[in-house]
Amino acid sequence: MTSAPTLATPLAIGSMTVRGRLFKSATSETRATDEGFVTDELLAFYEPMIEAGTPMIITGNLYVSLQGKSADRQAGIDTDDKIPGLRRWVDLAHRHDVKLVAQLNHGGRQIGHPAPGVDRLVSASSVREPLYGTKPSPLRLDEMSGVVESFAAAGERAREAGFDGVQIHAAHGYLLSQFLTPHTNRRNDAYGGSLENRARLLIEVLRGLRSRLGEDYPILVKLNGTDDLPFRKGATTGELVQVAQLLQDEGIDAVEVSRGHYESWPGMVQGNYRGFLKTSLTVGAGRYNTRRRKVVQFALAPIAERVAQLLRPPQEGFNLSQAEQFAAALDVPVICVGGFHTKAGIEAAITSGKVDAVSAARAMIADPHLYRNTVGDISVRPVCGYCNGCIARFGGMPIDCYSDDIRDERKAMIQRFHEHPAQ
Ligand SMILES: Cc1cc2nc3c(=O)[nH]c(=O)nc-3n(C[C@H](O)[C@H](O)[C@H](O)COP(=O)(O)O)c2cc1C
Ligand code: SF4
Repeated sequence: MTSAPTLATPLAIGSMTVRGRLFKSATSETRATDEGFVTDELLAFYEPMIEAGTPMIITGNLYVSLQGKSADRQAGIDTDDKIPGLRRWVDLAHRHDVKLVAQLNHGGRQIGHPAPGVDRLVSASSVREPLYGTKPSPLRLDEMSGVVESFAAAGERAREAGFDGVQIHAAHGYLLSQFLTPHTNRRNDAYGGSLENRARLLIEVLRGLRSRLGEDYPILVKLNGTDDLPFRKGATTGELVQVAQLLQDEGIDAVEVSRGHYESWPGMVQGNYRGFLKTSLTVGAGRYNTRRRKVVQFALAPIAERVAQLLRPPQEGFNLSQAEQFAAALDVPVICVGGFHTKAGIEAAITSGKVDAVSAARAMIADPHLYRNTVGDISVRPVCGYCNGCIARFGGMPIDCYSDDIRDERKAMIQRFHEHPAQ
């Protein structure tokens, strides 16, 4: 009889085998140059996570075209001259036998302001994004192949830079997710209406990547398990599971399950919200909002944040009930993200067989040694308080933990590790 997998049991994702089952989920870094090139500052964020042997790290979303660039200082994979910088990132990971996966993304309508030289923001349909106020124009039929090509070319660059795989970002209300969701996709052509039509662009993107990268190159996808859009027409969990099945038929190697669009705020990052809007509007991606939107959002902040706190308090494994529905319907590995930070919580998700692996974003920012510390039962470690200070600053300030106490603990932990790596 084979025993149930644990945190440290290897997992095959297509042709790639990872050494354990806790991964770092994608986190946009706001640490590249203004033109999207990798910097030392970006690598410094990853160094401790890599040194601690995290089995697989998924990069922050990398824009596949300038039109899809969603935030300032976001890293890009849209041009060949970015490959040498991306290769430095890969080399750093490979020195410690860590698998590095490039997340490929087009922001669609969830873009605070278009990148220089971009004349229009696009989406499935012309539905205004309420947090940023952007009004996109629908992608024309003759533009679909350009989107597919930008993902395929980005995949080729990822492989050339040495990445162990790519992850298609089809969650969180970015372009591919905008096509999947009826609220943002009001089309009545071959890319709208039925689920098959709404999934068409995503399937074409996967086919484009497969045809360029071959059968053996690991391709993962991040999907919502729920769109979390009350009173609007979100895709249902059942529909999203069907999308995952279609992707499996087309050769996807693993599915990571998350939730929410920007407009389902606070859905994607369940936690604490006090001060979130003020921070985002002053130093985060929200600072590009119009003056009028800022005034309204500042005024609503106390109520909105209190309601958010009541509806979505911090909770370990907050996407698990959806993720296990994916796992039950799929043969490929299913990874669940959302609030994981304790050994008990992570192992319960895996040993119960609910999902094959777990990933973490905020808990890894606070504790970049999370994998090593949980496997090794090291209890003196920084623990994320889910204050959401990091995500509130996204797009404006470099990714980091913005809780002073936790930063101090993290610094001390990294210092101890460098002095006594065996402990
Ligand atoms: C600062 C920050 C940046 C993020 N950037 C991305 C991103 O680039 N791509 C993505 O798929 N998710 C992104 N996320 C969402 C996380 O990957 C994850 O889905 C979410 O935070 C829930 O996981 P957690 O509870 O472990 O933080 C980001 C989250 C944070 C906190
Ligand atoms: S700022 Fe630090 S404590 Fe707060 S959510 Fe982010 S990582 Fe966790």
